[in-house]
Amino acid sequence: MHFECTYCKAVIKNPITPVGLCSCGKPLSVRYEWENSNIGLKVDTNEESLWRYASVLPSVENRVSLGEGFTPLIPISDKLFVKNETVNPTGSFKDRGMSLAISMAKEQQVENICLPSAGNAGISAAAYCKEAGMNCHVFLPESIPKEYLSESKRYSKHVQLKGNTIADAAKEMIQQKQENWFDISTLKEPFRVEGKKTLGYEIAEQLGWKFPDIIVYETGGGTGLIGMWKAFQELKSIGKVSGSLPRMVAAQSTGCAPVVDAFQKLDNKTEFWENSQTKALGLNVPGPIGGYWILRILYESNGIAIDVSENELTILTEEFNTMLKINAGPEAGVVWGAYKKLRNIDWIDGNQSVVLFATGTERCKL
Ligand SMILES: Cc1ncc(COP(=O)(O)O)c(C=O)c1O
Ligand SMILES: [Zn+2]
Repeated sequence: MHFECTYCKAVIKNPITPVGLCSCGKPLSVRYEWENSNIGLKVDTNEESLWRYASVLPSVENRVSLGEGFTPLIPISDKLFVKNETVNPTGSFKDRGMSLAISMAKEQQVENICLPSAGNAGISAAAYCKEAGMNCHVFLPESIPKEYLSESKRYSKHVQLKGNTIADAAKEMIQQKQENWFDISTLKEPFRVEGKKTLGYEIAEQLGWKFPDIIVYETGGGTGLIGMWKAFQELKSIGKVSGSLPRMVAAQSTGCAPVVDAFQKLDNKTEFWENSQTKALGLNVPGPIGGYWILRILYESNGIAIDVSENELTILTEEFNTMLKINAGPEAGVVWGAYKKLRNIDWIDGNQSVVLFATGTERCKL
C-alpha cells in the first residue's frame, strides 16, 4: 500500500504516521499493489459487514467494528434501487468511513481524535472511538439540534459547539487542536474514503457484479461519491466488473450548492458558499476541501450536479420515506428530488439502472 496525492500527484511510499494530508495541503488517496492485476477479489461471504471486502482494504490487525455496512439495496422497480444506510450502527453511512479511519488510527497508536461535524460524522466518530478506547474531540455548530448533541455526548465527553456551520466549527477546532490530536476531518486522512468505497463494492455485488448506469448521491464533503468512484475503478481494473462505469450525479440543496454552482460554470474548483442554510444538515458543507476531486469525477464519469429546492425538502423526504417505509433524514429528500428532476428532463430514461441513497436516519423533525 502507498499513497498518491489527488492534486500534485506526489507518490508517498513511507509516510509519517498517522497519515494526513499531502505536503501540498491536499488529500491523499490509498493505492494498492493489487490494482491492475487479475488476482481478483476474495469476498468473505461469512462476514455480513463491510469487512467482507477486507481483501481490498488496508490490512488491519485489530478491527474497530460495530457491524457497519452490507446494508440492503431496496428495489423500487426493476431499474431503480435505494441503498438503505439508515440501518448502520449509529444510523448513518458515516460508520463505514469511521470503522476504517479509527481502526487505522488505533493501529498507528493514536489516542486522541478530533473532527468538526455537521452531525452524523461526529456521532459516528465518537461511537467508534469509544469502542476503540480513544478520546474523540467533536466540534459541532451551535445550531445543531439537541438530538445530535445528546447522541454525540452519549459516546464522548469532549463535545463543543461553535458557529453556524461545520466550517465555523472547524476553525474553532484548529484553534484548540493539540499536538497529539489526530484530525480525521473529511478527506484530511485517507482511510474514511476506503471505508466509504465499500458502498461501491456492495452495490456491484448486490447487482450481480454489475455496475448500475447511474449513481445519484446527496453530496456534502463528497467522501461517498469519491469512495464509490474509487471502488468502481478498482473493480474494473481487477477485471471483476466489465462495462461502462456509472455516471455520477451530485445532488445538493439550493441552500448550499457549491458543487452545482461550480459544475454549471464548468469550473474545476468550488467557491465558498456564503450563508449556507439547509435542513439537510449533512449537506451543509459550504467549502468542501475535495471540491476539485468531486468535480473531476463528475466530468470524468459524464455525470452532472443538480440542485433541489430547499422549500421542497420536507415533502420530498416524506414521499421517499412513505414509499420505502423507512425513516431517512432530509438528505434523502435531496436525492429523491434530484432523481425526479433528472427523470423529468430525460437525463435519466426509464431503461437505465439507477441507485439512490438513504444516507442517514431522521433523528428529529426540522
Ligand atoms: C446523512 C448524510 N448524508 C450525506 C452526507 C454527505 O456526505 P459526503 O461527505 O459523503 O458528501 C452527510 C455528511 O455529513 C450526511 O450526514
Ligand atoms: Zn500533493
